[in-house]
Order: sequence, then C-alpha cells, then structure tokens
Amino acid sequence: MSEGAFPPTARRFESVGFSEIVKVRNRVMELLAAGQKVWRFEGGEPWMDSPEPVKAAMGDALSRNQTRYAPSSGIPELRRTILEKVRTRNGIPCDDEAPVVVNGGMQGLFAAFSTLLDPGDEVLLFSPYWTPIVDLIGYHKAQAVLVPTAAARRQGLASALAEKTTPRTKLIYWNSPNNPTGDVFSRAETEEVAEFARERGLAVISDEAYEDLVYEGEPVVAIGSLPGMSERTITCYTLSKSYSMTGWRLGYVVAPARYQKAIKTVVLYTTNGVSTPTQWAGVEALTRGTEFVAEWRAGYRSRRDRLVAGLKSAGFEIEPPRAALYLFPRTPSWLPSDSRAAARVLLDEAKIATVPGIVFGPEGEGHLRFSFSVSEDMIAGGAEALAAIASATSGR
Ligand SMILES: Cc1ncc(COP(=O)(O)O)c(C=O)c1O
Repeated sequence: MSEGAFPPTARRFESVGFSEIVKVRNRVMELLAAGQKVWRFEGGEPWMDSPEPVKAAMGDALSRNQTRYAPSSGIPELRRTILEKVRTRNGIPCDDEAPVVVNGGMQGLFAAFSTLLDPGDEVLLFSPYWTPIVDLIGYHKAQAVLVPTAAARRQGLASALAEKTTPRTKLIYWNSPNNPTGDVFSRAETEEVAEFARERGLAVISDEAYEDLVYEGEPVVAIGSLPGMSERTITCYTLSKSYSMTGWRLGYVVAPARYQKAIKTVVLYTTNGVSTPTQWAGVEALTRGTEFVAEWRAGYRSRRDRLVAGLKSAGFEIEPPRAALYLFPRTPSWLPSDSRAAARVLLDEAKIATVPGIVFGPEGEGHLRFSFSVSEDMIAGGAEALAAIASATSGR
C-alpha cells in the first residue's frame, strides 16, 4: 500500500446512521451555551432521580469490595432475581440460563440482532419505530421491512405482515409500548402476531423497555409469555426507564436455550459484562421495583395530561397515549407539515425542542415527538411558549 493510503472503514457502516436525535440535542446545547432558555421536550428519560435504596445498594457493594470481574453474563444473585421477575411478572416460561445481564437495553438489542441476523435477512417491523433499530439491522447487513402500524391495525396485523413476508424474512421486531407513539398492542393483537410468527417459523425480538410505564388499561402482554413463544422470542428489558436508571447502563435479555450461547458470546466479546457494583444495585432495583414504579406513575400521568392540554390549546389534535414517555401529535396547520421544518420553527422561533417525526420512519412524517417526562415547570413554560408562537404564527 502506498504511503498516505488508508484502509476504508468496514462496509457494514455504510448503511448505519448516527442518531438524528443527537443532532437536535447538539443544537439545544449550542442555544444553552449562548445563554438561551430552551423548553426541552426532545429527551427520553424519566424525570426523577434514581431511587435512594438503589444508590445505597451500589455503595454497599463498593464497601464490600464487590469490584472484581463478575461472570460475563451476570452475577448469580441478579440472574436469579431476573428469573423470578420474568417468570412471575411477565409470565415468560424460561430455564435457569435464560437471563443475560447487559449494558442497558441497547446492548441487549444489539446482542439479539447479532444472534439472529445474517447479511440479506429481512426483519419485519411496525412503523413508526424507535430509530436505532433500523441502524442495528443495517449494521448486520440485513434489511428492515417496514409495516405501517395504523394501516396494519385497520387491515389486521397478521395479514399486513403476510404481505411483506418473503423467504428471506427471519424475524419480527416487536415494541410494545411503542416509542415514539406510546401505543400498546392489545392482547388480541399480540396473540395474532404470535400465531403468525409460529406459523411462519419466525423469531421475535421483543423490546419491552417501557413495560412498566403504562397508565391506563390492560398491562403489556409479553409476547414471549404466549403459548409456544418463549422458544422463539428474545425479550429485551432495561432498568433505564422503569427505575430511572438511564445512566447506569443496566438491562437484561431473556433468551431460549438455542440462542443463549450467541447472546452470551456477544456480551463476552463486547463488554465482558456489566460493572459489578451496578449489578448489585440492579438486584435492589428489581426486588423493590414495583414499589418505585407505583410511586411515580401518578406523576407521569399528570405530566402527560398537562402537556396534552397545553398542546391542545395551541391547536394540536392529540389524545393522551396509554404508555411510555411521549406525545406524538400531527403538526397543526400553523406549522409546516414537513416535520424537520416544523421542529426547526419551534426551536428557532420559540426555543421549544422536539424531535421531528420523520426520524421514526416515513410513517412518522407530519408528526413531532414531545417527551412529557420533564419538570412541571418545563411543561408550564413550554405550553406558554407554544401558545405564544401559535397565536403569533396563526395571525401572520
Ligand atoms: C424502545 C426503546 N428500546 C430500548 C431503549 C434502550 O434503552 P437503554 O437506555 O437502556 O439502552 C430505548 C431507549 O430510549 C427505547 O426507547
């Protein structure tokens, strides 16, 4: 090789984007650095601090010198706690080796896709979808095949999936509750998709990051709990959203025997496990989990309802979503229908940060994502700023 020539980056990165949400965040940072007040609705994390008993459990682990290498798939105490939780709370029948501890939901999803995807495989996913999923699929040189959710719900989910299924289809990515819409698939819909997966011999990667953040109606049905599904489903959980632990980077995957070795191998050769004291904190979080979540749910609900009211008075049409952290309304007539342009107007002219819906797939175009998991003051101030720009713009 001649001097000055360099090998190119691996081809697998050709079809991988780098979070567009980060671009919004960077612009927000610029405005903040310039001393501007920004009404921040672009994020995606719980508004409250991590629970004190969880922090104390990490402190205890450090004072007990629990600071050495742990088994790469997780300390036995945490794996046992996970097993108990997924069997009783989620109803997933699984063997003792099923849980693997990972560095947050993201590593679990990465390991799950890595376990299943060969180049050229196709993945069915409902759209709008959480942005990184398409990048994870692209990284593995596989193909994301989008199934528009609203139309599929009218048509019947199985029939909509059948239309997009080819001999290359390997799996369904299933995300309920959904980011960005906050929708939850019903039990009947979940059963229909499970039956489809069984009939067609497909695997399912079920992303249940928001399992605990459901504010009304029936709880989430874990697709892996349905008959014959635990054998073909890798379920990905995270402590980030349930227990306000986004920065701890702790999650877990539950996998059937046939996929366990691959998942464990990915974890072994990427991070060699999760920090040992963090795992001890995880034992406390999962043991006391339902307590924390119950305490916070009312706070989420009231934030959601206040932001919905604020958006409605600024001319948005929106019904409160049943779950997760987000509102995903259509842009009102006084904003451009192009979601990137709409988000830009709100940020530049009213210092309101949102995420353009196009980031979540073509079905998200014409929408904006607002997180309601922010302080009460942010909601009050943001709603006022929205009302002001709505009346100024409508009167132009
Ligand atoms: C649908 C969905 N899955 C998984 C994750 C990953 O969560 P973690 O922060 O634990 O990596 C997120 C985070 O925003 C999410 O929205």
